[in-house]
Amino acid sequence: MQEYVTLAQIQEAGDVIRARSQYRPEIGIILGSGLGELAGAVNAPDTIPFGDIPHWPVSTVIGHQGRLVIGLLEGKPVYVMQGRVHFYEGYSISQVTFPIRVMQFLGVKNLIVTNAAGAVNPAYSPGELMLIKDHVALMAMAGENPLRGPNLEVFGPRFPDMSRAYDRDLMALARKVADENAIPLQEGVYICLAGPSFETPADLRFLRAIGADAVGMSTVPEVITARHGGTRVLGISGISNKANLDGNSITTHEEVLEAGRQMVPNFVKIIRGVLRDMA
Ligand code: HPA
Repeated sequence: MQEYVTLAQIQEAGDVIRARSQYRPEIGIILGSGLGELAGAVNAPDTIPFGDIPHWPVSTVIGHQGRLVIGLLEGKPVYVMQGRVHFYEGYSISQVTFPIRVMQFLGVKNLIVTNAAGAVNPAYSPGELMLIKDHVALMAMAGENPLRGPNLEVFGPRFPDMSRAYDRDLMALARKVADENAIPLQEGVYICLAGPSFETPADLRFLRAIGADAVGMSTVPEVITARHGGTRVLGISGISNKANLDGNSITTHEEVLEAGRQMVPNFVKIIRGVLRDMA
């Protein structure tokens, strides 16, 4: 396991991608568990398996296809990551966020990040979408910050601001599009845990107490890295399972994937709408 990725590795990966596609997107989209079908909406794509890109981490998880789809959505060039890797797979937190660095190196200025998440807020129902308005970086607080190690000055400063991690204009756009399409959109705070075990009821009550509305095992490291490099972020969670605060239900990966698939049409509508109106 490599603790810190280097600028040379980022450049090497970026050069391979550039050589395999004519598109020069400024928008990156990451598809979470069960949401991979969304990549099918991309027109005239160039598709690169993650394994073909040097140093790019490859996912071992069912439901994460593992390829970079480069093409047009609403007429705008996009990089779509169909799948991602997670810390629990054994990668370092720096490796987990390597794709963000490569996309930044290639000129990405806006990142739309999606995930499947468990409800912590008891008012949330499976199948609903949640606009991420902020996050709790619990893992980063405990030391697993993707920016730990030598600072890559070409991307950003040693001590980046995180007061507006999720872009206000992009949030406003997402709300507008959800409203126009009559898609209910919750708004809340996402918290990322290391996983892979799901939470106990006591874990969930703790997460609720510290201000979380939804819990997952991704996104936050990617967003920290994105913001360090000045990339604007829109984050949307698909709520795949209800808050099991009393221990009366169980959570399975199959349930998460199935809920993800059912939410794809609403994700597609919101992402298309946001892209259409994005400056
Ligand atoms: N907990 C953590 N991660 C998740 C969950 C959950 O309940 N559902 C989907 N991803």
